[in-house]
Amino acid sequence: MRIDIISCVPNLLDSFFAHSILKRAQEGKFVEVVVHDLRDYSVNKHRSIDDYAFGGGAGMVLQIEPIAGCIRALQAERAYDEIIYLTPDGELMEQKMVNQLSLKGNLIMLCGHYKGVDQRVRDLFITKEISIGDYVLSGGELAAAVLADSIIRLLPGVLNDETSALTDSFQDNLLAPPVYSRPFDFEGNVVPEILLSGHEAKVEEWRYEQSIKRTKERRPDLLK
Ligand code: ADE
Repeated sequence: MRIDIISCVPNLLDSFFAHSILKRAQEGKFVEVVVHDLRDYSVNKHRSIDDYAFGGGAGMVLQIEPIAGCIRALQAERAYDEIIYLTPDGELMEQKMVNQLSLKGNLIMLCGHYKGVDQRVRDLFITKEISIGDYVLSGGELAAAVLADSIIRLLPGVLNDETSALTDSFQDNLLAPPVYSRPFDFEGNVVPEILLSGHEAKVEEWRYEQSIKRTKERRPDLLK
């Protein structure tokens, strides 16, 4: 998989992809993540990429020319399965959407800023608009990082224990059960005995029950 992220503050994303699982995923060639500075596609010598909104009102708008230039340069190199715009008015991100995106080959993620992008970018280039939640961030970079992270960890071979993504919260509309590690006894708080029984089927049954209990308590909407 290849993910191209278009941003006007590319430095925001650099360290995010340079550590831990995302670093290993790139080193292992499971994914290639390339961050592009939108200013490199500015059409003027000031390297500007935004301008006032027609019709007035507060806030600047990201202009279409630099974005079109960047997207077209990428499309000249390879075909893209989706060109995603991260925006609070997009489709709400959830695990099923992430699972589907993890099956794709090449993705572009466009990060908005200020008052957003010229509507014509959305009309002409964007194939999918995604929001990571009902709140407004100061830019799309964190949203792109969240989306890319959730996709990359699902790519076969990225997680050490290949089954571990299958037992994540939300994979079957259930929250994950509680987990415990050593010590067995922390200041009188002990680990549920069943987990030490060595009885695999019983442990699985207990985990399933705990998942249901947790989901009923915290996210009953998932069980509907
Ligand atoms: N940009 C600003 N807020 C956002 C959100 N909630 N989701 C996606 N992109 C955003």
